[in-house]
Amino acid sequence: MTDTVHVPLPGREYDVHVGPGLLHRAGELVAPLLARPRVAVVTDQSVAGFHLNALREGFEKSDISVTALTLPAGEATKSWPYFQRTVDWLLDERIERRDMVVALGGGVIGDLAGFAAAVLRRGVRFVQVPTSLLAQVDSSVGGKTGINAAAGKNLIGAFHQPSMVLADTDVLKTLPKRDFLAGYGEVVKYGLLGDADFFQWLERNGSSILAGDQAARIATVTRSVQMKADIVTRDETEQGERALLNLGHTFCHALEAATGYSGRLLHGEGVAIGCAMAFELSARMGLCPQEEPSRVRAHLRQMGTKVDLADIDGDLPDADGLMALMAQDKKVIDGRLRFVLVRGIGDAFVAEDVPPDAVRAVLAEALTARQ
Ligand code: GLY
Repeated sequence: MTDTVHVPLPGREYDVHVGPGLLHRAGELVAPLLARPRVAVVTDQSVAGFHLNALREGFEKSDISVTALTLPAGEATKSWPYFQRTVDWLLDERIERRDMVVALGGGVIGDLAGFAAAVLRRGVRFVQVPTSLLAQVDSSVGGKTGINAAAGKNLIGAFHQPSMVLADTDVLKTLPKRDFLAGYGEVVKYGLLGDADFFQWLERNGSSILAGDQAARIATVTRSVQMKADIVTRDETEQGERALLNLGHTFCHALEAATGYSGRLLHGEGVAIGCAMAFELSARMGLCPQEEPSRVRAHLRQMGTKVDLADIDGDLPDADGLMALMAQDKKVIDGRLRFVLVRGIGDAFVAEDVPPDAVRAVLAEALTARQ
């Protein structure tokens, strides 16, 4: 019941395995990559409670010894102090050039451990074992690693591709519904940016996916990973097409900044809202049919995720305040607003010079609907 997506980057190719029971099979799958039977696992406290023993047993039954570092859970861990702690720990554990680091966790642990592996002894290999839906469909694949700076998220990092990804769909059962739905925001994004048939399939199968149907969940993760793998293979370092993966992210980043990167808005929730707003903006600019934003919203509503600004509790800045937060975004070049826009569902493109008035109008309308 396991699917495999191959990422054929020349000299850095790897497989993403998707399916149930992969933690238990970690040793058998990773053993062929190891120079000696030993791995260093980096994880967090909440994931460790659920999954570290299963992963440890998965390695130990193939006679691979496991040493583990357990960090606090949460975005604050993706920072210089924990990065230093991780690198120092890997050195204390005598992890050498040909050894393997294993990242067991969501996006925070994958990004942090991947970045530590990228710089340790000028680069050691690492395996991603993503435990959130968001990490399985997005952050564990494609080699973006890093930490946050005081000046903004993900501003320090490196491209460092994993040597393997084990996306165990059984672990999704332990996710709180809200976290699962946040990851689903990234899943929908793939349909919206490049595969109208996948979006239609999600519309038909959304309730089975939510209810935990194993085959539907494997198909969901596999299709998402395949799309990401295809894009990353064509544009590893985001010189062009990879930017499409940022559909919804300019709005999302402004909303995350406005809500203080807090529990008021999870990243994937911001992506879902941001995708709906990118469709609104595209329709307002006459680029996509007027009925498409409603169809996107209807599906997100059916799934029960956040869709509109009205779904965010507490105060938000006005439209100009949100525009000011957007101006900090990495995608603003020479003060020009760069957005991923759409010609319709499944057809995204990068628009270089979006009129600020159109963006302000979409924001103002969405803010008015909250009142
Ligand atoms: N999450 C966007 C990317 O990996 O490019």
